[in-house]
Amino acid sequence: MTKAAPLLCKIALFGLLVNLSIGKPNMAQLAPIASFLSWREHESHCGGQHQSPINIESATAIIANYPEFVFHNYDLVFPERLENNGHTVELKIEEQGISAELPFITGGGLTDRYNFVQLHFHWGQSFSGSEHRIDGEQYPAELHMVHYNSKYGTFTEALSYEDGLAVFGIMIELQSRDNIAFRHLEQFDNIIDPSIANSDTLKYSVPLSDLLPDNTDSFFRYNGSLTTGDCNEDVIWTVFDTPIAISERQLAKFRRLRDEHGNELVENVRLTQLLHDRVVMYRPQSNPSSPSLSNPSSPLLSLPDLISAIEFPLE
Ligand SMILES: *[C@@H]1O[C@H](CO)[C@@H](O)[C@H](O)[C@H]1NC(C)=O
Repeated sequence: MTKAAPLLCKIALFGLLVNLSIGKPNMAQLAPIASFLSWREHESHCGGQHQSPINIESATAIIANYPEFVFHNYDLVFPERLENNGHTVELKIEEQGISAELPFITGGGLTDRYNFVQLHFHWGQSFSGSEHRIDGEQYPAELHMVHYNSKYGTFTEALSYEDGLAVFGIMIELQSRDNIAFRHLEQFDNIIDPSIANSDTLKYSVPLSDLLPDNTDSFFRYNGSLTTGDCNEDVIWTVFDTPIAISERQLAKFRRLRDEHGNELVENVRLTQLLHDRVVMYRPQSNPSSPSLSNPSSPLLSLPDLISAIEFPLE
């Protein structure tokens, strides 16, 4: 077999599977959510062609051989501050008086070093609170960890470059027991009404690593935008396919937060946007000696897994 043969097999298989998968769209899952926040749509970049969030179709994602992520100082404990900005609750590290280097990421197919700047949450009224969807499925909530490209010096400066930000999208599902990290994080009592007080220091800081999914090896990658504010198209998105989990009681805490008019922040989810000319890449969990067909019931056992599994015997 020539060197090109495995690639040709892959391309043929890709076409076949794409055709098969188009035959069964689930319209109920793809129906747009009823309510959205229209204030954003008037802002400057929000009508662009590279907007976020999107519905990620795993069957059409293209396999990429990105290296693993390296999370630097993610397991360190820094003083942290919560802020209710009227649209979401945001967690920042209190930089004043900190001598240790702040968390940053490298690898994962990113060319530069990206420094952590803040994380925040999206949630909804029912259990449809994630902004991204994977194969039409919406999760109860989503965590965004925002990083800026260190070569631009500051977050604000990085905002105007297409490789300015790297954001993690982490799906949040429900479990019966509390998530311990969120027990420390959910200290919202002093910031429920931002017209009275909008920020508070966390009593017990949460290391960022406690908020990452168990598996950060496999993820989707696409170029998109911020989903709030000006919707700047400067985000390299990483959407992990492994969710984290919190309890229903913990999710309810987010819905008690209010905006600056005193209305309950029951939903802060932007509608999914069209892909236009973009592609979505997928990094499978890399272990070439054991193709990942071990769990056939996995909802994400899709084209990427099948290709890597089938390619193996051909070589
Ligand atoms: C994102 O955009 C950059 C610059 O145009 C490009 O090099 C890269 O391949 C794009 N990434 C994806 C996942 O399409």
